[in-house]
Amino acid sequence: MVSESVLEVHGLTKVFRVPRRRAEPFVAVRDVSFTLGHGEVVALVGESGSGKTTIGRMLAGIETPTEGSIRLSEESAERSGRSLRQRVQMVFQDPYAALNPFNRISYTISRPIINYHQMNNAAALERAREILGTVQLIPADEYLEKRPHQLSGGQRQRVVIARALAASPEIVIADEPVSMLDVSIRADVLRLLRDLLDQKKVSAMLYITHDLLSARLLAQRIMVLYRGNVVEIGETETLLTNPLHPYTKLLWSAIPNPRRAAEGKAMVIPTAGTGDIPKHGCPFAPRCPLADERCQVEMPPLEERTNQHAVACHMVEGV
Ligand SMILES: Nc1ncnc2c1ncn2[C@@H]1O[C@H](COP(=O)(O)OP(=O)(O)OP(=O)(O)O)[C@@H](O)[C@H]1O
Ligand SMILES: [Mg+2]
Repeated sequence: MVSESVLEVHGLTKVFRVPRRRAEPFVAVRDVSFTLGHGEVVALVGESGSGKTTIGRMLAGIETPTEGSIRLSEESAERSGRSLRQRVQMVFQDPYAALNPFNRISYTISRPIINYHQMNNAAALERAREILGTVQLIPADEYLEKRPHQLSGGQRQRVVIARALAASPEIVIADEPVSMLDVSIRADVLRLLRDLLDQKKVSAMLYITHDLLSARLLAQRIMVLYRGNVVEIGETETLLTNPLHPYTKLLWSAIPNPRRAAEGKAMVIPTAGTGDIPKHGCPFAPRCPLADERCQVEMPPLEERTNQHAVACHMVEGV
């Protein structure tokens, strides 16, 4: 069981104001709270536009929260002078766009080492070799010389991971890190991410994905996001064997599983929104087969039902 937390997030909210595009301010992330424990991977799961990347960018200090707090543990705060931007590093979805095509890998990886650790070039290169070993790009010297176009997608993503490690972060936010990679190499890259935790190269990870099956492989806990709201969070196996929120059930039932289909457990839920989100009600109400009047007017709070398994739904029976 994970005890001490590396990161605590409270009431994180992001409102985008785009006057020309939307008449009203757009709440992309609403009142999100969670922790990342030592050695823990938490998966953040939700459909496109649900606010996953926005949460990641706020944690990494790229985007400023409209409200809420992000706190790293006291122990790590002792590493004085280190900013959120250094301590939380992101690995992005697209390894083609993430790397500057003109830079050699040696530059890409040694630059953050020099910036953050004030090392000289030779020491930074030595550290870069070590990190390339960690991401299994061996022999390191061969890769240091290369430019991105000389690498496969999987190798590029390993370079992106190496660049993140170059800052010596406590936390890595992996934002759909394998969704653009060839199916045959996805498991290898996920295993590498898992190894970073096991080998204590990083203290915790937020794994952003659409894909519950990969979340199951990598994460101890899963957090389900719907239109910027956390609707369910729990230990991976508990949540997947007993999903409580109708939206989690929808996501889970969308994964082909002959046994479950034969048991006739799948719910029929429209896959697209059928109306506007009620202003004060549950964001899922327009798509929810269980919704009643209360769901239209009252936002259900995220409440713990069983040990560490919380859900935001008026229609879930008390356990
Ligand atoms: N800078 C911005 N200005 C205005 N709206 C934004 C901005 N960034 C994100 N959004 C909006 O916020 C919502 C959440 O976007 P976000 O990229 O966080 O979703 P996501 O869950 O990562 O989606 P995907 O799975 O497609 O990557 C979307 O509706 C998006 O259009
Ligand atoms: Mg995204």
